[in-house]
Amino acid sequence: MREVTGIVLENREIARGIYSLTFSAGEEISVRPGQFCMIGVQGFPLRRPIAICRAEGERITLCYRVNGNGTRTLAEGCKAGEKVSALLPLGNGFFVQEGEKKVAVVGGGVGIFPLISAIRAYCDEKEIYAYMGFRGRDALCLEYEMRRGKELVIATDDGSVGYHGTAVQAFMEDFDRVRPDVVLSCGPTPMLRALKSAMQGRNVPVYVSLEERMGCGIGACLVCVCDRTNGAHARVCKDGPVFEMNDVVL
Ligand SMILES: Cc1cc2nc3c(=O)[nH]c(=O)nc-3n(C[C@H](O)[C@H](O)[C@H](O)COP(=O)(O)OP(=O)(O)OC[C@H]3O[C@@H](n4cnc5c(N)ncnc54)[C@H](O)[C@@H]3O)c2cc1C
Ligand code: FES
Repeated sequence: MREVTGIVLENREIARGIYSLTFSAGEEISVRPGQFCMIGVQGFPLRRPIAICRAEGERITLCYRVNGNGTRTLAEGCKAGEKVSALLPLGNGFFVQEGEKKVAVVGGGVGIFPLISAIRAYCDEKEIYAYMGFRGRDALCLEYEMRRGKELVIATDDGSVGYHGTAVQAFMEDFDRVRPDVVLSCGPTPMLRALKSAMQGRNVPVYVSLEERMGCGIGACLVCVCDRTNGAHARVCKDGPVFEMNDVVL
């Protein structure tokens, strides 16, 4: 983990309310897919957790939706040439085993961003089947990144693009044809619950990346604690954010 003062190269809107922020970290950062960054926001004491969508040498790209005051300030106030403070890379990230050839990725909302890093990391050596859910056409972004895998299904809640329904519904309709060896997922909790219930008894490992509120991002403050199914607790920032789905209470 590094604390860096980066230089913003670009911060622009790529879909309605969704921004892509690229900064130079000043040094090469090695990142596992699914790891995240705590990004500093001018005027806010706490950094905000955002998945690392792309890491190329010193260049780090985060994609984020304007959600509350912190992300709004980032969108409006963070301009090319300015300094940005970041802690990265954080968390465990996704890890696909050698024998797992067919990888399904199922994402919704801002959960697509860590999954894009997994598609980029594994597209050359694995067969990736991506199911990505959006509210509608105006939220759709980074389609070229999602197309790096073998197949892509875009699902929209309003049917304005692609499959009319959720990413989980689209995935489950394809499940018997694709028969993935492993599933990687990230998205809103109701989506993860729907996936969990649909995958019951199918005997395929499912890894989910959780998006809890965070304070420190490095395991010290316990703001992000979640419950494990065995009664223990886990820090999403340090023990996660990726967990085997059946290990955590959703
Ligand atoms: C590991 C991780 C990776 C993430 N990756 C991304 C990403 O790639 N792109 C992206 O757009 N967002 C991502 N998020 C969510 C992002 O951190 C929050 O949207 C952001 O911190 C909100 O800050 P804010 O100041 O704008 O909103 P606040 O004013 O702090 O909150 C606005 C609303 O968002 C809710 N909220 C705050 N933090 C979170 C959170 N961590 N998860 C869910 N809801 C939250 C609050 O309860 C409130 O309702 C990620 C979160 C985690 C934990
Ligand atoms: S955010 Fe502080 S322990 Fe996880």
